[in-house]
Amino acid sequence: MDLVIADDRKSLSLELASGVARFHAVWLRDNSLHPDTKSAGNGQRLISLLDQSLDIAIEAAALKQGVLVIEFSDGPTKHSFPVQWLNENRYDKAVPVKKGWTGSDVKLWGAELNQAIPTQSFEAVESDPQILKQWLFDVRRYGFALITDLPDHPEAFLKVVEWFGYVRETNYGRYFEVRSEVNPVNLAYTSQGLQAHTDNPYRDPVPSMQILACIENSTDGGESIVIDGFKAAKQLQQENSEHFDLLSNYCARFKYAGEQGVTLQSKRPMIELNTDGELLAIRFNNRSAAPFVDIPFETMPAYYEAYRHFSEILERDENRVSFKLQARQLFIVDNTRVMHSRTAFSGSGTRWLRGCYPDKDGLLSTLASLEAAENS
Ligand code: FE2
Repeated sequence: MDLVIADDRKSLSLELASGVARFHAVWLRDNSLHPDTKSAGNGQRLISLLDQSLDIAIEAAALKQGVLVIEFSDGPTKHSFPVQWLNENRYDKAVPVKKGWTGSDVKLWGAELNQAIPTQSFEAVESDPQILKQWLFDVRRYGFALITDLPDHPEAFLKVVEWFGYVRETNYGRYFEVRSEVNPVNLAYTSQGLQAHTDNPYRDPVPSMQILACIENSTDGGESIVIDGFKAAKQLQQENSEHFDLLSNYCARFKYAGEQGVTLQSKRPMIELNTDGELLAIRFNNRSAAPFVDIPFETMPAYYEAYRHFSEILERDENRVSFKLQARQLFIVDNTRVMHSRTAFSGSGTRWLRGCYPDKDGLLSTLASLEAAENS
């Protein structure tokens, strides 16, 4: 295995399983795994960057049985880096050049998912950690999954949240009811169909997941529809890259002030990218879009064309997965990615759902911990 220290001793290169990678001395010293630098107990860093010189150099480096041992210019301590760890944490790699990319954890989908909706029964997940892991994996992968056969209790859906995290309480309460009302404070509480949307884009931070559980659904219609917003954004980019750029470069505004004492507002793009171009989040909700005031006068007509184009993509059957949620079933969506809507339903019968907002960081944390436990 080739190990070469650069002439200025500010970096080294090393052949790894994934190919040759370079590492800077300043990066290696900052990420030292030595117990003087990182707590052996919780893995948290014990030093500040201010404790370290940016001119730090590599005095010596050697490979011993799959471990790279380095002495830096700041002292005689030997810092050990397992080669496998270096391979997992390499940063000397090709940078994605195209905006709107998604990571390997994410699989984009369209109507074909109608034939393979990720579904588990409550009992199966509750009794088998492997099935829980599979279900959480599917939620991370598709941003959407179902649970069937909930216990016959109207708050049973909260048990599902306990599998991976916590409910975020909002002005709508710990959970909220979605059913027909005579004088609704929100259009969700009527029998009208709803355009595909992400929930509560007027919050900052936005609710990152939503669960909707069915208590009763004896109406005609009222089918649930879910759409992969990341796939729709990629389609927008393929069909007109300027439209994609407009929705990602400019901020929209969202507002909700439908209750006494509540004035929620946010300023964020409809398609949010990370600084490296990774597709980060979709915010789309015609009901709570506020006047857009952050787009130049000359650009506003083009922005509306892009907004309209994106809206049209969401209406295409090829992008829609639909199902009629039955009593004691629930679905979960990644509210930063997957849009949901429903068809209109008749006034006879009852359509009664209960919803809540768990957070995605808890779900990803639980899944990563289950995966790490399996690999250790
Ligand atoms: Fe909604």
